[in-house]
Amino acid sequence: MHTGTCARKMTWTCTNGIGSVVTIFASCTSASPHSAGTKIRLCEEPANYDVTLQKPLGLAFVERDDGAGLEVGEILPAGSAAADGKIFPLDLLLEVHGRDVSFLSFDDAMAALIDAPENCRLRFGRVRGRMAALRFSDRDSLVFARPGEALMPIARRARFDVDYQCYEGSCGVCDMVLRDGESGEYKAVRMCKSRIPKGLSSSLMPFDVLRPESEEAQEFYAAMAAKLRASRAKRQTL
Ligand code: FES
Repeated sequence: MHTGTCARKMTWTCTNGIGSVVTIFASCTSASPHSAGTKIRLCEEPANYDVTLQKPLGLAFVERDDGAGLEVGEILPAGSAAADGKIFPLDLLLEVHGRDVSFLSFDDAMAALIDAPENCRLRFGRVRGRMAALRFSDRDSLVFARPGEALMPIARRARFDVDYQCYEGSCGVCDMVLRDGESGEYKAVRMCKSRIPKGLSSSLMPFDVLRPESEEAQEFYAAMAAKLRASRAKRQTL
């Protein structure tokens, strides 16, 4: 775990190719264990991975949607999981010290964890496109959410200030630009109505939420306007 303050540098780098890596450095004063300095392999992420952790793990587990086994709900800042840095929210717990717990009930899987040695081997699985990591333009910590989740509550969770007026997607007061950190594509979003896109390929889907006045967003708007002008010009000459 990092403490204190360190230099801020935040970049998503992924080219859909082998060895694409996301590097995140941010202010280490944030409570999120993943805001300090984390390397996430985006496109070549192994589906399953092993860690050996000392108790207390600092992991909050929740029951899986299908009622079998556990998934990671939260990584607490104080714990060996945060220090290790490999585990992310929504990762599935598959094995505890060599024992398959993937089909056990929540209680039985928790019992296996409690019975495991102090220094226990754990196997986790990460399912592609199951989790998104959002970085809000003037916030230091990452927010993890499921694809398809509404952006407005996620922004509130991140304490990202957004002005709202109609809450119906018609006034445009809450406009932002969403950048897909994997493909590099931009998309205009209305925070009150938009959701995290689904169906992308990487196991951890990275997005940046940019304020409309930011340089990047302005470039995107200018490109959109130019595209619109070009399409109008074509229509006129047909
Ligand atoms: S608050 Fe009006 S479009 Fe979102």
